[in-house]
Amino acid sequence: MKKTLRFISLTPLAKIPMLILGLESSCDETAAALYEDGVVLSSVVRSQVDLHHRYGGVVPEIASRAHLEAIDEVTRQALAEADRSPANLTGLAVTQGPGLVGALLVALNFAKALSFALNQPLTGVNHVKAHALAPFMHHPSGEKITPPNFPLAVLVASGGHSHLYKMDDYLTFNLLGRTRDDAAGEAFDKTAKLLGLGYPGGLSIEHLAKEGDPKAYALPRPLLHTGLDFSFSGLKTQVRNIYQQENLTARPANDQALKNLAASFQAAVMETLVHKLKGAVKLIRAEGAVLAGGVAANETLRTAAGEMMAEISRPLYVPPLEWCVDNAAMIAHLGARQLAAGHSLLELSAEAYPRWPVT
Ligand code: KG4
Ligand code: ZN
Repeated sequence: MKKTLRFISLTPLAKIPMLILGLESSCDETAAALYEDGVVLSSVVRSQVDLHHRYGGVVPEIASRAHLEAIDEVTRQALAEADRSPANLTGLAVTQGPGLVGALLVALNFAKALSFALNQPLTGVNHVKAHALAPFMHHPSGEKITPPNFPLAVLVASGGHSHLYKMDDYLTFNLLGRTRDDAAGEAFDKTAKLLGLGYPGGLSIEHLAKEGDPKAYALPRPLLHTGLDFSFSGLKTQVRNIYQQENLTARPANDQALKNLAASFQAAVMETLVHKLKGAVKLIRAEGAVLAGGVAANETLRTAAGEMMAEISRPLYVPPLEWCVDNAAMIAHLGARQLAAGHSLLELSAEAYPRWPVT
């Protein structure tokens, strides 16, 4: 007999004080967080970067195993740091996709079991949408965030995504543009691997680029004047050509030519992202813009997007650095909004969605 979870409550969810456990295991971070009545109480992230570093990218099988080993402890730690017990939970939220299927299944099955045992509702969260909402969650010690005016133009740039959306409210998104090949973070990771910097590449390229000249190499700004789609794979190939032609392999890691190449590559990606975000803002007459995902941790991008929005006197919403990269606070936050709206309640038979477009 198919077993289903009981979710029906006579009191509307929005009126119940909410303590939500968020769980995330879509890629190479195992994460758990507690979110209570609009505030993040705890956010624990266990990164697998050291495990994948030597392979120059995430190895799916290793990721799933590491999630299995970590999920229980990470959850206990999030509960302990928030000084709450499982019995206090009034709901759960888990990343249902997109991501690596074996990795996703770890948190999904763990969340289903907890939800069943505690008889509390479980909602399935889209990871990309959760990134987009990360600027709107509150730190316990932070200032209250003024709710934004909609619509917003949203750029989510991470290891798996470079997408532009129109956001009509916290739960309603429409796709405006996307990458036709590599995601922006993926381009950083592949280029870093080429330059011998290891995985993940974003931060190491940013560091190297700090002392480089962004105008040293004239790299292309792909699809700059063609709609709102991106393409980053050609750029990566150009970097490889320069690297080989100038025989940079033989140079030490702190060589000026390498720094210049890193700076020129970073400038090409970031200028493209900001230009397209500006195009999206204009197209939908946005009241503001959101920058989110791991690449939004990049200082050059944050500054350039901030200046672009300041020019048109509209706000830019960017999460603090810890909430740009993968975390479970953003999952709990979006989950709380979904539970309050009675959205996306999961049954025990719920599947993971490795490819899951945002709508
Ligand atoms: O959001 P995230 O943690 O995971 C995914 O959902 O993919 O993003 C990770 C990506 C990686 O590709 C990483 O290289 C990139 O974000 N990243 C950065 C920076 N920090 C992380 N890219 C550019 N500059 C950074 N500072
Ligand atoms: Zn992510």
